[in-house]
Amino acid sequence: LSAVAGACANSRHIPSFGIAFDIDGVLLHGARVLSEAQRALSILDGNNQFNRKIPYILMTNGGGTSEVDRSRKLTEQLGFEITTSNFMQAHTILKSHAQKYANKPVLVLGGKRDALRKVAEDYGLQHVYTTLDVKAWNPDVWPFCDLTPEERASAKPVDFSTTPISAIFVFHDPRNWALDVQIMMDIIQSRGIIGSSGPLVSAPPVELVFCNPDLQWRSEFPRPRLGQGAFREAFQAVHQAVTGAPYPYTQFGKPTTQTYEFAEKMLHARMVELHGVSVTSDIQPRFYMIGDNPESDIAGANAAGWSSILVRTGVYDPADGPPTHKPTHEAENVEAAVHWAIEREF
Ligand code: G3P
Ligand code: MG
Repeated sequence: LSAVAGACANSRHIPSFGIAFDIDGVLLHGARVLSEAQRALSILDGNNQFNRKIPYILMTNGGGTSEVDRSRKLTEQLGFEITTSNFMQAHTILKSHAQKYANKPVLVLGGKRDALRKVAEDYGLQHVYTTLDVKAWNPDVWPFCDLTPEERASAKPVDFSTTPISAIFVFHDPRNWALDVQIMMDIIQSRGIIGSSGPLVSAPPVELVFCNPDLQWRSEFPRPRLGQGAFREAFQAVHQAVTGAPYPYTQFGKPTTQTYEFAEKMLHARMVELHGVSVTSDIQPRFYMIGDNPESDIAGANAAGWSSILVRTGVYDPADGPPTHKPTHEAENVEAAVHWAIEREF
């Protein structure tokens, strides 16, 4: 009878907690959906012993396409409704942080460059250029690559000798590190004008923004792959060798505080949307992060005061020794992680 009473009491229990799921290495390996991912999301969708929907978001350091396009693709892949209200990616935070460059020329890097230009323009940036535009303007900028006919067709004709670039945004993982590092050096050393001999004394230093610090990430390959954090290290090593010092930059993405604050707002909105749960003196929402990368998912959640659950299906491999950041809990996979969180909450 006490078990039934307990279950009844719980059925009225409104979940005042939410879960953030990392994507790569937790739900997906590249394009492949992990079988436990769908079972985990089904539990949160109400198929649990308490018959309650539990608020969740997907929170990735990935990017390169619009939030609408990526969430639509995730809905198809996972079989659960993912929308822009429960999905955030590395550069989503730029929607507000990039406004000061709305009407200034900026360079964006990463992913499929023409698709990325559209993402940046949708964020309100009006003069968006890519490294393929620069290569199309003057092929000598980097003689060791050629544009494909498609890349040439999508390039924006512009004279960079009279177009001072004010900021460089690395939205997603760059594809041609050599071309990109060369053009970043040209812009930074000249304070904006590619090919000019010295810095434009009237111009402020070019702002450099990275959106994903991941040194490594988990795709289909059985071992982790180098991520945008590795690109940043490569660029900084070249800048240090050429100028004698690294270049100052702004970093977003997990584990940064701004990204977790952004995620908390999104999770809280989901809690209000699902159950009307609002932050009051006696209901302080609790947040869980389920991730595969101790450096981004666990470090960021721990610093934000969330509960962190490290899974063994991605970057972290127990054979390599203990994780660099200690999680609240370690689980075999995302389904086991969800069961642990729910048991803990109800
Ligand atoms: O480029 C994506 C990769 O760096 C990590 O993605 O989903 O594990 O945060 P995720
Ligand atoms: Mg991951």
